[in-house]
Amino acid sequence: MTSQNDPNRVIIFDTTLRDGEQSPGASMNLDEKLEIARLLEKLGVDVIEAGFPIASNGDFEAVRAIAEQSTSARIAGLARSLEKDIDRAADAVEAAGERARIHVFLATSAIHREFKLNKAKDEIIKQAQDAVRYAKQRVADIEFSPEDASRTEPEFLAEVVQAVIEAGASTVNIPDTVGYGYPNDYAELIEHLISNVSNINDAIISVHCHNDLGLAVANSLSAVRSGARQIECTINGIGERAGNCSLEEVVMAMRVRKDMFGDLHTNINSEHLYSASRLVQTITGLPLQRNKAIVGDNAFAHESGIHQHGVLKNPECYEIMTPQSVGVPATNMVLGKHSGRAALNDRLKDLGFELSDEDLIKVFEAFKDLADRKKDIYDGDLIALVEQAVRGREVTVWNLEYLQTTSGTYDTATATVKISKGDDKHTDAATGDGPVNAVINAMDRICGTSGNLQDYRLRSVSQGRDALGEVSMQVEFDGMVVGGKGLSTDIVEASAKAYLDAINRIVLQQEREAFHKQEEAAVSP
Ligand code: KIV
Ligand code: ZN
Repeated sequence: MTSQNDPNRVIIFDTTLRDGEQSPGASMNLDEKLEIARLLEKLGVDVIEAGFPIASNGDFEAVRAIAEQSTSARIAGLARSLEKDIDRAADAVEAAGERARIHVFLATSAIHREFKLNKAKDEIIKQAQDAVRYAKQRVADIEFSPEDASRTEPEFLAEVVQAVIEAGASTVNIPDTVGYGYPNDYAELIEHLISNVSNINDAIISVHCHNDLGLAVANSLSAVRSGARQIECTINGIGERAGNCSLEEVVMAMRVRKDMFGDLHTNINSEHLYSASRLVQTITGLPLQRNKAIVGDNAFAHESGIHQHGVLKNPECYEIMTPQSVGVPATNMVLGKHSGRAALNDRLKDLGFELSDEDLIKVFEAFKDLADRKKDIYDGDLIALVEQAVRGREVTVWNLEYLQTTSGTYDTATATVKISKGDDKHTDAATGDGPVNAVINAMDRICGTSGNLQDYRLRSVSQGRDALGEVSMQVEFDGMVVGGKGLSTDIVEASAKAYLDAINRIVLQQEREAFHKQEEAAVSP
């Protein structure tokens, strides 16, 4: 079942930076990936899948930088079963030394064999074995994934798994690539492998579940009860289509339901789950629904009087875990206009943020601005200010200088916007169907962009009429989708900042792509 020393240890393999980044609009820049990787290590994740190095130079650089920065987690790079992919992945993870892993995959189901690969079963087995052997020459720790395993004939899957373990794979991952699995039969598939693969004890069985039927967490938990000892998951469950198994849910389910999981345990420091969730939301611009399990805004909110009464008497009446156990901050009012930098820093430390001096100065300035507009500053406000400072670190091509809008029931909305790029200041005005639309039109005129707003969400980060509003949007520019975020006590200003954030991201992404194209042209014969 497992070749590790502790048979009850469940390895957490986080793929937020690889499968998670495949969510539409979730692309992240290098600094953001490094930031998430640091938090994943603090969280106690065992393996970080940092990217797919052959996919682009940006992916390669990110995996290489994460491998270099890492101190405790294994760093994995994904590769198809092709030598060029494996070489690229090996180069990217090299700096992680003994903690380097190459994750090789090849589809095995009948539909993929026939339509995608046009290969017979014996050819698949040979290619998979060759790939594992080739990768093993570069890196000791090799994981193999038979893509679409849950729809592969179980007998053939067992043959593939036996063959790749023989070739040197130390982890065999059984992906439910299309989220088709059901807890009972996915568990039976794991049991089938345990009974029919004679060398199965030489490898860890891993599971990788997609959430197309909303069963990714259930399937992963079920597989663990049948003997799997690695779970592949992402923060907030982000990932292709409906996403992947959510890390926070799977970890807390195992912790809370000891009656189901006995001594099985992970290495996750659960009190960092909330900040990890917030960071990933901030960086990707993908907001969560309020009722998301574990980390959603309503996860610990009790609305009905009967529940509130019960919780006051004994929290266990209606809470199966405490908010503190997953790092949800108290909503107490903490600071105000007269609070100094030291008080702010102390409170941020309590909330789990260790800021560099430079970031602290930025957050303190934003805090003072906010204190001028808003009397009581809550933990939720502080978290949002920190996230804004982190998010804005690299992405400040254009800055918002000034904004004025008019609108009314019977009037056409108008906006005047002044934005700057370095020392250049540009002002323009536009009309629109409401003040947000007018602001966006004015910004597009100045920046020469034409964004198509695909999603727009507004949430208040704390309570009260003067609460900070956080706008998250997904904007498409010439076929490329990016996330934008903005924060202000004025929701039109928050929307303007979010749109400008999206413009800044697309400008940087386009510059990066142009640079890589030039580089590629320079090396091609
Ligand atoms: O879903 C999947 O099959 C994958 C593999 C590359 C593991 O992401
Ligand atoms: Zn996947």
